[in-house]
Amino acid sequence: MQITYYGHASFLVQTQGKKLLFDPFISPNELAGSIDVDAIKPDYILLSHGHQDHVADVERIYKTSQPQVISSFEVVSWFEEKGLDNYHPMNLGGEWQFDFGKLKMVNAVHSSSLPDGSHGGNPAGFVITNEEATFYYAGDTALTWDMKLIAEEFSLDFAFLPVGNNFTMGINDASVAAEFVKTKKVIGMHYDTFPYIKIDHDEARETFNKKGLELILMGIGETTNI
Ligand code: NI
Ligand code: MN
Repeated sequence: MQITYYGHASFLVQTQGKKLLFDPFISPNELAGSIDVDAIKPDYILLSHGHQDHVADVERIYKTSQPQVISSFEVVSWFEEKGLDNYHPMNLGGEWQFDFGKLKMVNAVHSSSLPDGSHGGNPAGFVITNEEATFYYAGDTALTWDMKLIAEEFSLDFAFLPVGNNFTMGINDASVAAEFVKTKKVIGMHYDTFPYIKIDHDEARETFNKKGLELILMGIGETTNI
């Protein structure tokens, strides 16, 4: 499984011959200026919720490869009205077998409105399982006891967790979340983009290390294999 970081909460996961793009907020992100948004050409765009810092580049990228947009019914319907006709609506607790693996939409404790103020339904996270790996993309969320349910059902290889604090859980809660979902390998997201969510990288890694956990803070544009 190959993972490329595009800044903030946006990652490209290449697995089973498919390109899955999560929460694209790339062209408005000054830290991600080196990324060629139009060259990504994903097969799928997965949206955890409707906030601008997660959906900003959806319409632009849609024009390049018509990826299927997977999100809550409300978020998908909003993009449908904008003319995107390749989509898959879901809601919390639902599972679907896609050609890249099985996806379950799981709880996130956050809010969800679209950029024009429209109601975005409930925010969500995703658990994806296929022959290569099983991973959890938490989206924007607080630490929640519900994360223990993920460990009961799945054996995770790694998780994408927000660590930036203020709008989502911070480092300490994220390290507890890693324990709740029972994974030792965490890829951090939702940090440094805005002044409110700047973090000390060394201190963050150290917090995880002390618990026997690994926190990976990828460079923007960096690709890694898991
Ligand atoms: Ni948000
Ligand atoms: Mn956000």
